[in-house]
Amino acid sequence: MTTAIAHPNIALIKYWGKAPETGNVPASPSLSITLDGLSTTTTVMSAQADQLRINGELSDDVKVLRWLASLREHFSIPPIHIDTANNFPTGAGLASSASGFAALIVAINAHCQLGLATESCSGWARQGSGSAARSLFGGFATLKPPNWQASPLLDAKDWPLSIIIAITDTGRKAVSSSAGMERSRNTSPFYPAWIEQTKTMFHAALDAVQAHDFSALATLAERSTLNMHAVMLSSQPTLLYWNGTSIALMQRISALRDSGVPVFFTIDAGPQIKAVCLPEAADIVAKSLGEVAGVRQLVRTGLGAGARVVDA
Ligand code: PMV
Repeated sequence: MTTAIAHPNIALIKYWGKAPETGNVPASPSLSITLDGLSTTTTVMSAQADQLRINGELSDDVKVLRWLASLREHFSIPPIHIDTANNFPTGAGLASSASGFAALIVAINAHCQLGLATESCSGWARQGSGSAARSLFGGFATLKPPNWQASPLLDAKDWPLSIIIAITDTGRKAVSSSAGMERSRNTSPFYPAWIEQTKTMFHAALDAVQAHDFSALATLAERSTLNMHAVMLSSQPTLLYWNGTSIALMQRISALRDSGVPVFFTIDAGPQIKAVCLPEAADIVAKSLGEVAGVRQLVRTGLGAGARVVDA
């Protein structure tokens, strides 16, 4: 029996759209931070037949089962029980598939002695979910060509940031990221410009992280979020992942920054708002976001470590 833990990551330079080739390759590079407080814990054990349990319930999740089948084309993996659980809402725009596939490949790699290095685990995690590649690493990570395995950029302790997640709805999203990305690639008139601009912004964001330039990173991260949501909104049929509270929170965070508080927002394919701030601003940001009507829960966290085995 082997247990691994992984944390979700949030992209500051986002990816939304896959390259035409197979293997779940993104169409553009991305840069992320790995969180600390949210986690997926996955236990793998040898069994008579495969069985998957997600949050205590038996599951036949096709994404996971197909991924396991493709792993078996390369490695000899006996029948296994997989028991995986999140300490946060699943499939609600909180990157549960990122931590899920990262924890799963790390647990299988150790349990079945596949001998994969962390970078190779990242490549396999990416095949399950593009963003999962980045959760193999802690702190700041990138996912870029040519090999599309994530790399560490900056350790969590080298630039501590605080993240306040405002949960506005815990329901599952109506359109999955994979389906939404395909829709955007096929129908949004802005899609080609989005991919091109992301490549430029990725390099600018690398510089901002290396220089610990919060203000430059804030501008780039909000632009990446808003450009991605512009592509989503301009897809046919439209992909509107926000609710009214999401918009009120964006306005609140913009007003805080205008008044000198070092904070910015980032939003994925869901209605939750993630506020990223310098640690000294975390109390004021949390207090202010907690006052916005419609916020159901605030989760405060910092930057965390990469996926790892906790019990073998
Ligand atoms: O990991 P996927 O393939 O479900 O895509 C996630 C996409 C976003 O979370 C919206 C952006 C990103 O880069 O994480």
